[in-house]
Amino acid sequence: MERVVAKDYVFHRDFSKQYPVITHAEGVYLYDEHGKRYLDASSGAIAANLGHGVTEIAEAMAEQAKKAGFVHTLRFETKVLHELAAEIGKMAPPSLNRVYFTSGGSEANESAMKLARQYHRDRGKPEKHVVIGRWQGYHGNTLGSLSAGGDSKRRKPYTATLAKFEHIHSPYCHRCPYKRSEEICQREKLLPCAEELERLIKEIGPESISSFICEPIVGSQQGAVVPPDGYLQRVREICDQNDIVFIVDEVMTGFGRTGTDFASEQFGIQPDIITFGKGVSAGYAPLAGMIVSDRIVDSLIENGDGHFIHGYTFSGHPVSVAAGLAAVRYYQRENVLSNCREQSVYLFQRLSELQQKHSSMGQIRGKGLLIGFELLMDRSQDRMFPPSFGAAERLNQEAIKRGATFYPGSGTIDGTNGDHLLIGPPLTITRDEIDELIAILDQALTAFELQVHKLIGKEE
Ligand SMILES: Cc1ncc(COP(=O)(O)O)c(C=O)c1O
Repeated sequence: MERVVAKDYVFHRDFSKQYPVITHAEGVYLYDEHGKRYLDASSGAIAANLGHGVTEIAEAMAEQAKKAGFVHTLRFETKVLHELAAEIGKMAPPSLNRVYFTSGGSEANESAMKLARQYHRDRGKPEKHVVIGRWQGYHGNTLGSLSAGGDSKRRKPYTATLAKFEHIHSPYCHRCPYKRSEEICQREKLLPCAEELERLIKEIGPESISSFICEPIVGSQQGAVVPPDGYLQRVREICDQNDIVFIVDEVMTGFGRTGTDFASEQFGIQPDIITFGKGVSAGYAPLAGMIVSDRIVDSLIENGDGHFIHGYTFSGHPVSVAAGLAAVRYYQRENVLSNCREQSVYLFQRLSELQQKHSSMGQIRGKGLLIGFELLMDRSQDRMFPPSFGAAERLNQEAIKRGATFYPGSGTIDGTNGDHLLIGPPLTITRDEIDELIAILDQALTAFELQVHKLIGKEE
């Protein structure tokens, strides 16, 4: 391999790549220094839910920076902090009312897992410390959140440093790890993927388990995989029966991404803690956090001394919180969620039309404007790409050449095999812009499939 030479002062995400430099952005479009336009079909990292260039959010941030740019929440609070917490508390399920802010989703999940642990300690159960996550789940890249997640590619280089957390399979009905069909599971009212949690709890002993964490819809690792009916309710029951804190990671799915404020409500569950990020500030400032149930907060006050032994310098940063407040008001005033639901129907329809034309498009799934599809060498034979082909990244490169960017993912099925493309445009996208997104994806798939034919030719 040619030696990569560092040409500037930036520690790039990948030194073997050249990244376009974006000079400005407007609506669903990004523009680079050469004037090239990209349709941002992934809202960055599924964060820019309101699109780019919303001046009222920028102005709210500037106003707050002028008033008080930094306030340490260990000593003081701000009005915007209270206002945003109240808005989020009202959006959350009824029993979750207290909002704790962080800068990113990984920090939010670290906070949730630590709070669960403190909750048990305060109640005289210090031995409850193990976190259970799921294979193929993603909760962030800090060591704790990476330990809870189940992406083998991201975990592998750090295995020795990770915490000893446990994992169960994610429910991926289309490729069920138990080789069952969703129909059979529903008919028999038995979901082995949920029962696996109970089995693992029995094996380890509920007395040592602190929390279970999962995404309601698996985002980046599997490309918008929705769990079967009844799955999250059964998990809720199992957590209750075993005194385990149920953390639902809505960092990607929260703030309207799936058509409702939080995806949890579509599954009829009330988690003990919801973590959020990304869409809360629509990407305008680093902001994330957790919404905590009354039960946990009451315990902190009654069984502890009211002090959560945790905190970050930038928790509740006034400028970030001001961005969040302006974003939340924009979502509400512009009825953004109703646009999300309407355009979701249209995008699903256009994608299934495209699927008729492209043999590399496998199962299409998701909710709201969090939609993914599997990439296959040949759908009729359900043939997967060799991981070394880097199928999803190749397809996205073809899209970028043609002026759109998506969210490619690999290791979809078991951490090594499987590829998918995740589509998550700003929730403000219009029908015409969806038509443009589809036209570019169509051209990109055509170019991609030419590469696939060459690969098949080589193999035969
Ligand atoms: C579900 C989920 N949880 C947590 C995270 C981590 O968030 P952050 O990158 O802001 O730390 C992400 C990021 O993609 C995510 O999708």
